[in-house]
Amino acid sequence: MVSAHSMMATALACLAFSVAPVAATTYSMVKEYYGSSFFNEWTFYNNYDNLTNGDVNYVSAQNATAYKLAYVDTATNHAIIKVDNTSTVVYDNKRNSIRIASVDSFGVGSLWVADMYHVPYGCSVWPAWWSQAPLWPQGGEIDTFEGINTNTQNQMSLHTETGCTAVSQNQTSTLVASTNCSYAANSDQGCIVTDPSTASYGAGFASSGGGAFVTEMASTGISIWFFPRSQIPSSLSGNGSIIDTSTFGIPVANWPSTGCNIAQFFQPQNLIFDITLCGDWADGVTWNSTCSGICYNNWVMGNGTDYNNAYFEVGYVRVFSTEGTNTVVSPTTSASGSSSTASGSATSSSSSAGLLHGGFWMTATVLVIVGLVSSALFTLA
Ligand SMILES: *[C@@H]1O[C@H](CO)[C@@H](O)[C@H](O)[C@H]1NC(C)=O
Ligand SMILES: *[C@@H]1O[C@H](CO)[C@@H](O)[C@H](O)[C@H]1NC(C)=O
Ligand SMILES: *[C@@H]1O[C@H](CO)[C@@H](O)[C@H](O)[C@H]1NC(C)=O
Ligand SMILES: *[C@@H]1O[C@H](CO)[C@@H](O)[C@H](O)[C@H]1NC(C)=O
Ligand SMILES: *[C@@H]1O[C@H](CO)[C@@H](O)[C@H](O)[C@H]1NC(C)=O
Ligand SMILES: *[C@@H]1O[C@H](CO)[C@@H](O)[C@H](O)[C@H]1NC(C)=O
Ligand SMILES: *[C@@H]1O[C@H](CO)[C@@H](O)[C@H](O)[C@H]1NC(C)=O
Ligand SMILES: *[C@@H]1O[C@H](CO)[C@@H](O)[C@H](O)[C@H]1NC(C)=O
Repeated sequence: MVSAHSMMATALACLAFSVAPVAATTYSMVKEYYGSSFFNEWTFYNNYDNLTNGDVNYVSAQNATAYKLAYVDTATNHAIIKVDNTSTVVYDNKRNSIRIASVDSFGVGSLWVADMYHVPYGCSVWPAWWSQAPLWPQGGEIDTFEGINTNTQNQMSLHTETGCTAVSQNQTSTLVASTNCSYAANSDQGCIVTDPSTASYGAGFASSGGGAFVTEMASTGISIWFFPRSQIPSSLSGNGSIIDTSTFGIPVANWPSTGCNIAQFFQPQNLIFDITLCGDWADGVTWNSTCSGICYNNWVMGNGTDYNNAYFEVGYVRVFSTEGTNTVVSPTTSASGSSSTASGSATSSSSSAGLLHGGFWMTATVLVIVGLVSSALFTLA
């Protein structure tokens, strides 16, 4: 993993350090999930979706391998995380799917990158690439990527204890649906920013070759960048072990510490991929405006051909720490660590207890619509 090239980069960075102060925006790689070892350090949920009321069984690591729902495609070295699209589901049964959480967690001063070629989409499908601390909402939650049904844009948000709000957001998106990040506000919809780009979700994501999501959890604020593949900055596409966020431009979403004391509201985060079906959001108030029939009966039940697009294809996940620090929190090295081992083949049970993504999305949707309409009116006026 540490190549001669990256050692050179480190040497150069050290040289730079002796000349000028290094900006707090420089990070070095501390962890990589890639290729044949991609799945080695994740906990498989191994329970039905009791978090968002979706109609899925999140399978064990053993069954994920046995049913080929989490595997590495040897032709591309990409990790596939998918919904079962080969079994026939009969009434009252759930469809198999995946929810995995990283064994390690990553503290303030971390940045993580997910390079993806495809994300799950289609009616009833609700995927997310996100993070949360074991203690929720006290330790916070960052939703870097989330979408439902036939939506075409990624929705990002934070969920915290009361006291964290989105103010002075220095971001490219103007689609701000809500600014109170408290789980207790607006039925836990979080402080939501929608990516205006239709390359950020669904068929549009896949047709532009996917892209890279970058999440920065700095003491100065939380930021998310999304780069469609053709716009991935060279510091990421070149795979250097050092990256500098000042080369990334303004993020698509930003929650500065001005309105949210990051160190107070965010504890080390476990990174999570999941795909549920129907449930609180996908089968919520917007269902009938984009999809037909009854979510469970007409989509989840049956032979599964509706789920041919319900998969993540991940090039890599990399985690970086502010240069000169190590923000990796490993359960095997922490005193109160759980018994999780770093072996993907171990049978792992549930991980964190967070009740992510509260149910009531109507407010969010209405606010987005109101926002769009009022900005349209504003433009007309
Ligand atoms: C979900 O199920 C797991 C495994 O049975 C359990 O540990 C956890 O407490 C449940 N969570 C909720 C929110 O019910
Ligand atoms: C794997 O799936 C089978 C059939 O659904 C189930 O009986 C078994 O308990 C599962 N095994 C594990 C380790 O989860
Ligand atoms: C955010 O919501 C919480 C819970 O409803 C409330 O106590 C708090 O005052 C709200 N914050 C702001 C800035 O409105
Ligand atoms: C960067 O790494 C990815 C994944 O390992 C690989 O596909 C790609 O070719 C690499 N790019 C360069 C410029 O080395
Ligand atoms: C917003 O972020 C950009 C890029 O990081 C920076 O150059 C600019 O000064 C920031 N603007 C404000 C108002 O903070
Ligand atoms: C969608 O419409 C159908 C038929 O009118 C109704 O039975 C169903 O409850 C609606 N679904 C939602 C999520 O509102
Ligand atoms: C799967 O079910 C759908 C809807 O019932 C049907 O149109 C389709 O032909 C089936 N596909 C296969 C491969 O059986
Ligand atoms: C399931 O979906 C994959 C793509 O995710 C596709 O290659 C495969 O043919 C599908 N299986 C069936 C039985 O349709």
